[in-house]
Amino acid sequence: MNEKIIVGNWKNYLDYEGSIALANSLLDINTSDKVRLMVSPNHLYLREVNKILNQTKIEVISQNLTSFDSNSDTGGISAVNLNKININRTIIAHSETRVREKNPQSILSKLITMGFSFVLCFEKIDQIPFDILRNNFEIILAYEPVWAIGTGETASLDHINEIHSNVKLKLSKSSLNLPILYGGSVNPLNCKEILDSNYVDGVLVGGASTKFEQFSEIVNSI
Ligand code: 13P
Repeated sequence: MNEKIIVGNWKNYLDYEGSIALANSLLDINTSDKVRLMVSPNHLYLREVNKILNQTKIEVISQNLTSFDSNSDTGGISAVNLNKININRTIIAHSETRVREKNPQSILSKLITMGFSFVLCFEKIDQIPFDILRNNFEIILAYEPVWAIGTGETASLDHINEIHSNVKLKLSKSSLNLPILYGGSVNPLNCKEILDSNYVDGVLVGGASTKFEQFSEIVNSI
């Protein structure tokens, strides 16, 4: 895959003003044709950020969802309601949400049937449900070693390549061709080496994606 996917996961770092300011700054970001950008604001500001970025090539995606179409999912986020505000993709099974939600993958089959795209995070290869994955709409995988998230410690390139190549091998045995991102303390200093790897189809960036200069440097490193 020649194209690299860069996803900025804003988590809960930014308040309302910060989210709107960053979205407006992103209107001026330069991207090469080899880069596809997505950003994932806090759910509270998803709709407004999407309105700001909806005429751009930056896709706004959700940080999580908790049900497919449940009306009784108090405090949750459903795929059907995300669809209604023109959000058609979510991050799912992020290690920070897995702490609260024990079995996020139970929703995956429904998302796949509906064609609601997702970035599925995993730390261990056996967390990937290879049997239900499909090629016919975009599913993105993201390897996130938990110890590297928000710690400033990035996995070595050898380690990333080893995990990604193992997953790619398993995917190819099921005739699947899905991009795999790396997430864990990606920053302007380490991004180029990681993104240059043929085994890495992009990065899932947390903290550094909430600072416009750092995020632009990552985007422009390709
Ligand atoms: P940091 O970039 O802040 O380590 O977060 C990464 C992340 O959450 C990847 O899933």
